[in-house]
Amino acid sequence: MPQRKHPLNVFKSFLIRNYRLFIFSAAGPGIIQKAMQNGYLYTPDDITRTYEKVHDHLLARYIIKTYSTNSNDIRDVALHGLNLKKAQRILELGCGYGFFIEKLKGMLHDKAAIIGIDLVENNREPFLHSVAAIQYKGEFIAASADIIREMPESAFDVIISSYSFYFFPHLLHDIPRILMPHGVFIALTHSKDSLKEVIRFVMRCMKKIGIKNVEPVINKLFTAFSRENGDALLKNYFNIVETLDFTNSINFSYHNIEDCIFYVNKKQHLIYKEVLDLMPDKLDVVRECVENHIIDFAKRNGTISISKDDAVFRCFVPKHHS
Ligand SMILES: C[S@@+](CC[C@H](N)C(=O)[O-])C[C@H]1O[C@@H](n2cnc3c(N)ncnc32)[C@H](O)[C@@H]1O
Repeated sequence: MPQRKHPLNVFKSFLIRNYRLFIFSAAGPGIIQKAMQNGYLYTPDDITRTYEKVHDHLLARYIIKTYSTNSNDIRDVALHGLNLKKAQRILELGCGYGFFIEKLKGMLHDKAAIIGIDLVENNREPFLHSVAAIQYKGEFIAASADIIREMPESAFDVIISSYSFYFFPHLLHDIPRILMPHGVFIALTHSKDSLKEVIRFVMRCMKKIGIKNVEPVINKLFTAFSRENGDALLKNYFNIVETLDFTNSINFSYHNIEDCIFYVNKKQHLIYKEVLDLMPDKLDVVRECVENHIIDFAKRNGTISISKDDAVFRCFVPKHHS
């Protein structure tokens, strides 16, 4: 089997190739494994199982778009009025297949290069494809976002985290450090109340198998970096934080309930974390119970509406440099 290059070395050679920068010494062995123990709510395995099927992620995006009450595109909201024409060095954390960068076409410097970091290797090809489609140079690093701790100061003009920062909010300290003084950090995130209707059903069904009085891990995730607390957290690190609310919900009629169930089950390794950890043999029972609640609710009311309010934060003037 060919040996994979250490992710930090991939990043280093990318910078040397593209910017003639040589910036940091190679990380010691095991840095990623060590980093992954640092208070993460989910294991790399949970994340991989949730996001490794890129096709399913695309379908979930399609479902969100189809059933959203807000017909705007949150990426347009996030980028509206920004002048990124001088931006050459772009970093996207938890980049997935490149959903956000699709919208950067024509917005960056002609010589811009975009680095995507994601735990899930399956995102490599789709991400590089997304970068090629918008005609910039790209690099994908399959690693934990923790590798930014090893990155040099002022390495990027733009840093993006689209629906991923709640997985690694402990990295907030490093964002202003690796951002240029004139740079911008753009973060898209959910409300702490996201999916609350479904989570209520999950708690009811968990109670039936004896898992009670626990705050679901998925709630802790949404609370870690949310529409509600993002502004306060970011103001510790940036002099200017703009908050753009994106009020939304996804509404499924009874006739489209299969799409709702697909959307929920796609996140099963996040939503049913307690069940999978404590009583994995009961997963099917709990999942069926939740599905039945969803179906019953939609049948009785003709529709089910699931909360999906989001927010965009645009952060300027990192305090690290001021
Ligand atoms: C909800 S998806 C968002 C993907 C993409 N940014 C988008 O907007 O469609 C979250 C992404 O974060 C990645 N992720 C989660 N934890 C991570 C970590 N610790 N380091 C790097 N990537 C991570 C997942 O693999 C997944 O691709």
